[in-house]
Amino acid sequence: MAISSRAKKVTTQTLLKMKQSGEKIAMLTAYDYSLARLVDNAGIDVILVGDSASNVMAGNETTVPITLEHMIYHAQCVVNGVDRALVVVDMPFGSYQGDSKTALDSAIRIMKESGGHAVKLEGGSEVCDSVKRIVEAGIPVMGHLGLTPQSIYKFGTYTVRAKEDAEATKLMEDAKALEEAGCFSVVFEKIPTELAKKVSESLTIPTIGIGAGPDCDGQVLVLHDMLGITKDFSPRFLRRYADLGEMTEDAVKQYVSDVRSQDFPNEEERY
Ligand code: KIV
Repeated sequence: MAISSRAKKVTTQTLLKMKQSGEKIAMLTAYDYSLARLVDNAGIDVILVGDSASNVMAGNETTVPITLEHMIYHAQCVVNGVDRALVVVDMPFGSYQGDSKTALDSAIRIMKESGGHAVKLEGGSEVCDSVKRIVEAGIPVMGHLGLTPQSIYKFGTYTVRAKEDAEATKLMEDAKALEEAGCFSVVFEKIPTELAKKVSESLTIPTIGIGAGPDCDGQVLVLHDMLGITKDFSPRFLRRYADLGEMTEDAVKQYVSDVRSQDFPNEEERY
């Protein structure tokens, strides 16, 4: 059943209350108006305009090339399709790592030009000054720890993070630092289930997992992955809820065949 357009809007406070009451948070990515509208109607809590748009929309190998202008464009399209969900917009690589003033300027551009409701950035203690400055300006910030794809050239691989004690301890400290800096939530990507459980229990802000097990306060997936549109990506954590890739190819094959055979357009499909 579609959620009424008068349904109460999701805010960062809603998410905090959901954590406190034990209700799990459902988050998905979207990058355009049409899919954002469907996802919002279906009752999602949070829509992430992820920089995974770089992979999914633009076909790039990494999230590194996507620009602030691209992210603002995708976020504008998503915001136009959303009535209820909280729209979080990824800050792209290069738009916040320099210094906290640059980070604030980028976050302000995202908020003013896209109409999004919050921003997300990757990293721990090294981004806390920027988080504080953005939050002080009135902009909600979501953190992102574990596998942080913008640093792929530093890690060299997309495998599970924080399996060793030292990295697990660092992740716990970073999560606490992000909470203290003012983040309203933090994403954990590809970390061990036990670690995600321990950190989620130690924080008051909600944690959202992707490949981080069932004990986070919410889950996120990339929409095109869970709908089966992207076919060459199948990590263990991904559950496919549909095979729109195959359905689309079949539909297009049928259309090509109908045009060639002159079955389309028929008597009713013309003026
Ligand atoms: O960009 C993205 O889609 C993300 C999710 C994987 C959390 O950051």
